[in-house]
Amino acid sequence: MRKPMIAGNWKMHKTLTEARTLVAGVLDKLDESAEVDVLICPPVQLLFPMAKSIANSKIMLGAQNVHEEASGAYTGEVSVAMLKDTGCSHILVGHSERRHVFGESGDRLAKKVRAVVQGGLIAIYCIGETLEDREAGRTTVVIDQQIDEVLASDVSAEHLIIAYEPVWAIGTGKTASPEQAQDVHAHIRTRLGSVYDEATAQKLRILYGGSVKPGNAASLLTQVDIDGALVGGACLVAEDFTAIISAVLAAA
Ligand code: 13P
Repeated sequence: MRKPMIAGNWKMHKTLTEARTLVAGVLDKLDESAEVDVLICPPVQLLFPMAKSIANSKIMLGAQNVHEEASGAYTGEVSVAMLKDTGCSHILVGHSERRHVFGESGDRLAKKVRAVVQGGLIAIYCIGETLEDREAGRTTVVIDQQIDEVLASDVSAEHLIIAYEPVWAIGTGKTASPEQAQDVHAHIRTRLGSVYDEATAQKLRILYGGSVKPGNAASLLTQVDIDGALVGGACLVAEDFTAIISAVLAAA
C-alpha cells in the first residue's frame, strides 16, 4: 500500500564532475519500471546540473535544507521557491546534523515544514534520539516531542514523509537492529495517528536512516513499518545505492 522510497542524502560531498559520475553509475543500474521512489539530495550547488542529469529518469531531486522565509536579508540561505526552481520536489527538514550541529530548534523546524508544504513540495521531516536519550530510556519521549512540536493537522499529510534516524546510528556504522527500528517506527505511526487519524497514519511513509548499507538493507526494509531508507554514506557509491534499491524491491 505504501510505495517504498530510497533517498540518498549526499550531505557535503561531491564536486560537479564527481556528481555526474555517481549519477551516471546509478542510472546505469536502475530499473526504471521498479515500484520504488528514488530520490537524491545533493548539495545546493549541484541541484541545477543534477536536475539535468536525471531528466527523463525516475530519479527525483531533493534539497537538504531550506530557509523558512520566502525572501529577505538571509545571507547564505535559499527559499522553497528557489529550490522549486531547480526542480526539487522534496526537502529534508530537521536532519540531525541541522538540529545538533547548526542548533535548529523545534520552533524553527515547524516553520520550515510549513514553508515546504505550503510551497507545494514534500517535506521529509527527520526525527531521532541521541545515544544519551536511548540509554536513559527516553527514546519515545524525544520522538513524541519532535513530532508534537512540528506536526499538526494543518500540515498536509500528502506533503509529508517521516525519516527516523537515530542519531547514534548516523555515520557510525552502528545500525539499529531491525527490531529496534521497527519498534520505533510502529510508535511513530501510532503517534501520527493522534496528530492526524489512523487511516492517514497508515498512508504516511516512514523511512529509516542510520548506516543503511547493502548488507543490512534487506533485514531493515522487510519490517512492516519501515517504508524505505534515507541513506548517507552508501549513497555516494553507485553500486551501494542501487543495491539498497534492489533490497527494498526484494523486500516488497
Ligand atoms: P549514514 O547512512 O552515513 O549513517 O547517514 C544517514 C543519514 O544521516 C542520512 O540522512
